[in-house]
Amino acid sequence: MVLKIAIIKETRDQETRVAASPETVKKMTALGHEIIIESGAGLGASVSDADFKSAGATIAKDAKFALKGANLFLKVRRPTEVELKLIEKGAGVVAFFAPASDKPLIEACAKANVLAFSTEFTPRISRAQSMDALSSQANLAGYRSVIEAANLYGRSFPMMMTAAGTVAAAKCFIMGVGVAGLQAIATARRLGAIVTANDVRPATKEQVASLGAKFIAVEDEEFKAAETAAGYAKPMSAEYQAKQAELVKEHIAKQDIVITTALIPGRAAPILVTPEMVANMKAGSVIIDMAVEAGGNCPLSKPDKLVVTENGVKILGCTNLPAALAADSSALYAKNLLNLLPLLTAKEGTDFAPDFEDEIVKGMLLTKDGAVVHPSLQG
Ligand code: NAI
Repeated sequence: MVLKIAIIKETRDQETRVAASPETVKKMTALGHEIIIESGAGLGASVSDADFKSAGATIAKDAKFALKGANLFLKVRRPTEVELKLIEKGAGVVAFFAPASDKPLIEACAKANVLAFSTEFTPRISRAQSMDALSSQANLAGYRSVIEAANLYGRSFPMMMTAAGTVAAAKCFIMGVGVAGLQAIATARRLGAIVTANDVRPATKEQVASLGAKFIAVEDEEFKAAETAAGYAKPMSAEYQAKQAELVKEHIAKQDIVITTALIPGRAAPILVTPEMVANMKAGSVIIDMAVEAGGNCPLSKPDKLVVTENGVKILGCTNLPAALAADSSALYAKNLLNLLPLLTAKEGTDFAPDFEDEIVKGMLLTKDGAVVHPSLQG
């Protein structure tokens, strides 16, 4: 049987990305799959229907037509209730499901008897690196966070010596040095800023130095054990957080740009920039809070709204920076899904046949046979 793969226009919160690119459509078609794409699905990412068509896709006039008879539904954001009704029973859906924040939708997927795969849960093992959508998107988000900061900052990033005087280089502090933070450091350095960075995982110290930035952290015994086996940060003790805040307080008062990216999987983001710290910052300083959706690293940030404090600090909470780079972020995301495809199809032929014994499939699978099956969502 031919595997019919559907891609539709994203409908959530001005999402501009799309879950396929002409390159991935071409490759999926070459594998013998049939690709149906809703008309206009690629426009936000600068891909026309004609581009998809010449790559081998069939264009459907709306989501209903695209999803009719589809065994696999590739998406960026989790389906809406309306979209869920259009999905065939037994079909697979791969998307960012926001499993920590939208459990009712996951239960609805189980009820609708679809197989939901969460890209957030791609295991962090080397075999899954090419499928890791969190990483591909975080990398671009880290770059874009610096561009947003530069746009809001009323001064220059690089130092400039001109006949009319010298312009000072911006001082940029990156808090949280995962995938996004590392790219933010690299971008801020390329723009000529003086960059410092902070994290609670000891492995980041060397990475920060290798990018030419200075590491600022409380390096006590707790810090030395702060990384989980999965490579993520652990929640830190109240004592550590107090020491960290003390160190950061003085440092932040001298910074022009602060970009926060700190997250702890399955929990609220740690508060790293308190209102008191903001009150001590200079007028015109900029804070970009990339953790705003998880509660924020700064309590003053608001999702996708610019807040200007009384002392003139600009704070922007960004929820979807990859959407501002939709052509690149879609192309990388589509490639992540293409790389996952062999694990969802039969070894011989093109049938939809996920390998349920595979560690990656097991890690990503949320619902199966009418039930929520992911261990992190039990109980
Ligand atoms: P993340 O998005 O979960 O968190 C961002 C950063 O915030 C992390 O570096 C974390 O340590 C930091 N953080 C948490 N609490 C903090 C606090 N109180 N103060 C300062 N910083 C704090 O992390 P991300 O970007 O997903 O990366 C986590 C790790 O996974 C990295 O080491 C990354 O290199 C690794 N990774 C491994 C992959 C693989 O092997 N397939 C793929 C992608 C990432």
